[in-house]
Parts: sequence; structure tokens; C-alpha cells
Amino acid sequence: MPTPQKTILISGGASGIGLHLTTRLSHLSHQIFVADLSQPPASSLATLAPDRVTYIHTDITSLASCRAFVARALELSVNKRIDVLVNVAGVCISEGLFPEEEVFNKTVDVNFRGTWNLGSEVLRVMQGQEAILVGGEEGEGEGHGDRQRGAIVCVSSSIGLAPVPGMSIYGASKAAVLGLVRGWAGDFAGWGIRVNAVAPGLIDTPMLPVLWAGEERQAMLQQIIKSVPLGRIGKPSDISNAIIYLLSDEAVHVTGECIKVSGGF
Ligand SMILES: NC(=O)c1ccc[n+]([C@@H]2O[C@H](COP(=O)([O-])OP(=O)(O)OC[C@H]3O[C@@H](n4cnc5c(N)ncnc54)[C@H](O)[C@@H]3O)[C@@H](O)[C@H]2O)c1
Repeated sequence: MPTPQKTILISGGASGIGLHLTTRLSHLSHQIFVADLSQPPASSLATLAPDRVTYIHTDITSLASCRAFVARALELSVNKRIDVLVNVAGVCISEGLFPEEEVFNKTVDVNFRGTWNLGSEVLRVMQGQEAILVGGEEGEGEGHGDRQRGAIVCVSSSIGLAPVPGMSIYGASKAAVLGLVRGWAGDFAGWGIRVNAVAPGLIDTPMLPVLWAGEERQAMLQQIIKSVPLGRIGKPSDISNAIIYLLSDEAVHVTGECIKVSGGF
């Protein structure tokens, strides 16, 4: 394989937003390692640049599983470094007012613990690797961000910023992700590691039909879609665009931020 531009780790790259992002990045000459419980559907596999993407079965709720994933990705990476982590994997389970404890445990385990598990393993690697000078324009190279060791983007949710009825645990787990992003951004800025978030609104992925199943909930979903100021439901590409900006060198001076991509909802 010709030398890839960057080594990029993505969790949740087998479906929805993560699969779209993996496909886009694989065609931009990056080497991608995906941590997911499953493989993408066979029809989607054909759209990936095959020699650039490696799926490694990983459960992000397990620290040991994340550790094994990071070690394997590093071993297989052509550049022997990790430039970018995108934490996309997440779950959204129907809650209502009094959900079972199981719903709480699973939501927090995947969305919050999983983000921490994988993020903290990757931060250890990034902290220890050589910094790369980004940009090259006059005045650059002076700040920590100009000498980068890595970038992390975490997928939160617009529900982590403002509540939606009957989704308190999910919203809290995604608000916790934002807390982690701001904390890590401050803690690791001195090493030239940037950490940012994207907060999607409603996005058309396999997650939606499961969550909004049933006539009543479908009607509620259609009402919500009608109230989106930009007039449509989001697409995975809307989210990939924001993530690709945040992980790119164009965002060299951006850290600890969250871009909401929700059509104004
Ligand atoms: N679709 C939306 O409307 C929407 C809105 C806001 C935020 N989000 C967030 O965007 C992210 C992607 O969601 P999506 O809509 O693409 O959903 P999706 O269900 O299509 O994809 C989620 C992926 O995460 C993986 N995953 C789940 N648990 C895992 C685990 N323990 N270990 C490893 N992988 C695991 C799944 O296998 C799947 O491939 C999630 O974090 C979700 O909360 C989605």
C-alpha cells in the first residue's frame, strides 16, 4: 500500500454515520481501522477502498477489548502511529419515563464508558508519539496545536445539548461525552492533541426506525422533522462533513468545541 496520509481509528464504522465516514475517508488515502461489534452489510463493503480499511471486532464497553484494538491497529498501521480517533459508536434505546435499569446500564456503558475506554487508550499512544508540524504558513509552528500529535472527534447528540421528552438517559450520556471532550481538550492541548465533538440532530440511519417504531412514534417523528428549520432530516454525509473538518489540519486552532449539525433544530 502507498504511504497513507493518516492512520484513523473509527468506532461504530459498520453502520449509519460511522459507515459513511469510513467510506469517505477510505477514498481520501487514509488507512482506517474500525472498532465495531459487527461488519457492515456486504453491499456496503463493496463501496469501501478495500486495501485501506480493516474491521476489528471490538466491544467498546470493555477496556480490554479497546486495548487489544488499539494495539492491533498500531501494529498493522503503515505509519506506526495513530493520527485520528473518531468515536462514533453509540446506542439509543427507547426509554419513556421509567426505563429499566438495564436501559440505563447499556446506554451509559456504550455511549459514555465506551467513549472513555477507547479515547483514553488512544490518548496514551498519541501522547507518546512524535509531533508533526501542521500548516507551514508564516507564524505557524508557534502554538501547541501547530505541532500535532493527534486529533479526536466524538459524536454526541443535539439531545446532549437540549432535552427531548422521554430520552433523559440518552441525553445525559451524550452530555457526559461533551464533558469528556472539554476535559480532554484542556488536559492534552499541551501535547498538541485536539479533541472536539459533533452533535447531530435527527439523522437518517438504521438507528431511527428502531427508535421510532410504531404508529404513534412515527407520527411524532414526522412532526419533529417538520419543525426542522432547514426543512429536512439530516443525512450521514452532513455529519461526515463536520467530522472531516474537525479532524483535518484546517481545524488546527480548534479544540474543546462542539459543532451542532441539526438543520437548526
Ligand atoms: N441517527 C441519529 O439520529 C443520531 C442523532 C444524534 C446522535 N447520533 C449518534 O451518532 C452515532 C452513530 O449513530 P448511527 O445513527 O449511525 O447508529 P447505527 O446504529 O447505524 O450505528 C451505530 C454503530 O455502533 C456500533 N456499536 C454499538 N455498540 C457498540 C459496542 N459496544 N462496541 C462497538 N460498536 C458498537 C453498532 O454495531 C453500529 O455499527 C451514535 O453515537 C449515535 O448516538 C445519532
